[in-house]
Amino acid sequence: MKPIIEILEDRVSQALSKVCNSQEKQPALVRASANPKFGDYQANGVMGLAKKLGKNPRELAAEVVEILDVSDICESVEVAGPGFINLKVSDDFISSSLLEINSDESGRLAIDEVDKKERIVVDYSGPNIAKEMHVGHLRSTIIGDCISELYSFLGHDVIRQNHIGDWGTQFGMLCALYERKRTQDGLDQNSQVNLSDLEAFYKEAKALYDSDEKFAKTARAAIAGLHSGDEYWKKDWQAIVNESRKHYSEIYGKLNVSLSQEDEYGESAYKDSLQEVVDQLKDSGKAVISDGAVCVFPDGFKNKEGEPLPFIIQKSDSAFLYATTDLAAMKYRVEKLGAERIIYVTDARQMLHFKMLFAVSRDANIAKEATKLAHVTFGTMLGDDGKPFKTRSGENVKLKDLLNEAVDKARSVVEAKNPQLSQEEKDLIAENVGIGAVKYSDYSNNRTTDYIFSFDKMLAMDGNTAPYMQYACARVNSIESKAKEKGIDSQAEIDSIKKVNLLETYEKELAKQLLKYSEAIKTAAADYRPNYLTNYLYELAQKFSSFYTNCPVLIADENSRPTRLLLCKLTAKTLLHGLETILRIKVPQQM
Ligand code: ARG
Repeated sequence: MKPIIEILEDRVSQALSKVCNSQEKQPALVRASANPKFGDYQANGVMGLAKKLGKNPRELAAEVVEILDVSDICESVEVAGPGFINLKVSDDFISSSLLEINSDESGRLAIDEVDKKERIVVDYSGPNIAKEMHVGHLRSTIIGDCISELYSFLGHDVIRQNHIGDWGTQFGMLCALYERKRTQDGLDQNSQVNLSDLEAFYKEAKALYDSDEKFAKTARAAIAGLHSGDEYWKKDWQAIVNESRKHYSEIYGKLNVSLSQEDEYGESAYKDSLQEVVDQLKDSGKAVISDGAVCVFPDGFKNKEGEPLPFIIQKSDSAFLYATTDLAAMKYRVEKLGAERIIYVTDARQMLHFKMLFAVSRDANIAKEATKLAHVTFGTMLGDDGKPFKTRSGENVKLKDLLNEAVDKARSVVEAKNPQLSQEEKDLIAENVGIGAVKYSDYSNNRTTDYIFSFDKMLAMDGNTAPYMQYACARVNSIESKAKEKGIDSQAEIDSIKKVNLLETYEKELAKQLLKYSEAIKTAAADYRPNYLTNYLYELAQKFSSFYTNCPVLIADENSRPTRLLLCKLTAKTLLHGLETILRIKVPQQM
């Protein structure tokens, strides 16, 4: 089933082409109406076309309406204002669409996969090894995960890539410290030293490197060894990576994101192709030596003084950079993975890096002309003071601590709402609500703006929050069990429906909202914006709430009850699909 808005766009667009005798597609610009008084959708494309043709827009609109055939979808089509076309969806169409969604047993709610499937690489999370993940990584991890889910749901071939920071000069000192700890503990290279505090480990290595010449010498030997492929240092490096992985895997598990070790393809994976990329750019004349460093100067990039801005790919001491690795990664993804689109999810501060990366890659044909490249950015998470979120002592907040705190705070919400539950049940709900709240509040913010992180706001039972949405789910679900208790066979009643009977405005509003789910999914995917989906779900929950308050379900007469049961069932399914399948936010059975 296609979203209604797409069908209408097609039909009106065809009618526009017809009235002006054109083979070209004329955009109909169909939008949802802001005011239901004027119908459900509005086509705004006539005005532009009239201007182009030098015709009166209202007259042109009337001509379009004359030949427009949407009788299978709309009950009324009207010209309004300077030349809008207002479209009102018919009850028959709503009815048949609801029944179609209901009869889809695949769990897809009758949402089709796209015709043109793409192979899409989504690069997200990318924690840095031997550093604790902090709140900045939260956004990349969950936004990237949602984008991956959206695109795979739409039928694309999604390849997740976790570009972990597991290579670089800092590994000399880290390996040197690791070796020291290991030998102090009397361990050989086959046993693992437990790095319970990555941040402390990193700081200790740095302090020793700066103060202890003997240690610094070992660190230099280690980095040289790593670069020349020395097995001894490689083993310790691998051990550090493995220890770090334990930390971020635990967080992925808690956040319920779908990244696994198989998706990991970090900076180290490209270490042997960096020189080749640099040589390729040098040989083709795209890269030049400037101040001893190998640089590319992509067109249109200037510094404050108006001088060309370099994309540095090799330093004068021949070390490679973040940029070099990203070029090698681009090449690998296009050539080996067959990526037709690559989506990078990082904070907005990396905007310039990715703009330059895209420009250089395109110019050097590392990204093909047809390769779609997107940098999906997000703003900073702020504390109450409006400054970047930090601990009281000014340190980065560890993601693990933040998530634990969310779960603790959620426990008091559960306690207040449902004190009679068992301890075990309370723990599970607190986990779902706490983690759900952190994820949902992030998703529901427009990703490009900074937002103030507030436990109180995200755990509120009212408003566009996870607990409100989870509660809404629990409430719809409870209707079915209540029906059972009353001896009502809801499934049989729903199955008996030949035509949905929508008498009340609340029923109709809810029904129309249910039909808009595919539209919400598609626009959220197209703009890489999870908040389109959370907004939709929130609106659905609100419409359900008005319906439920005004239209009794179980005590309704036989005329209305099957339809109302169907509306409840489809609301439950849609909310669950959005929350659990796409946003991967767990919904407790009860709250
Ligand atoms: N490790 C990087 C960071 O913490 C993120 C990696 C993003 N991906 C990329 N291909 N550069 O900022």
